[in-house]
Amino acid sequence: MAILNIRREGDPVLRQVARPVPKVTRRIKKLIKDMGETMYHANGIGLAAPQVGVGERVIVVDAGDGLYALVNPRLEKEEGREVDVEGCLSLPGVLGYVERAARVVVSGLDEDGRPRRLEAEGLLARVFQHEIDHLDGVLFTDKATMVWKEADEKIHGEAGAPGSPYGPDQEEQGCVSSSWEPPGSRCRA
Ligand code: NI
Repeated sequence: MAILNIRREGDPVLRQVARPVPKVTRRIKKLIKDMGETMYHANGIGLAAPQVGVGERVIVVDAGDGLYALVNPRLEKEEGREVDVEGCLSLPGVLGYVERAARVVVSGLDEDGRPRRLEAEGLLARVFQHEIDHLDGVLFTDKATMVWKEADEKIHGEAGAPGSPYGPDQEEQGCVSSSWEPPGSRCRA
């Protein structure tokens, strides 16, 4: 068991395109286990390997109905659009509105290397999309229509604006995914 160090915005690994995993080895299984523990420890609902400094295509997600681990995840299908609030363990205290597909089909390999195909909607669909973005070096603030800091709730303007004053770390309440209700919820992934 290991709690891994979560990389913060500014770390180059978060901007790299992660490599596909050729095979689910013992090392990958250990990575998945450690990522799950790290995600729960940080009160997150999703975590992608680049967030723990590993440039490989592995994600873990728990949006309230159990842990999903996917290796080489792919969005097979996207339907509908939905705007809601997102946060990210790599951008503590930062929140934003992000438009995502409302329903997705995601495929990949599970922690035992078996092919999986999952249908998801709502929060679970959102978290899958957020985590797969991490594998492509994309942060939610790149896509957000509005970004603000949780601590003061002041709106900073458009996402990705140069000099957006993402400040020092803030203690914040974790997202209790099982009681998640839109809008205005705070969920970090
Ligand atoms: Ni994130």
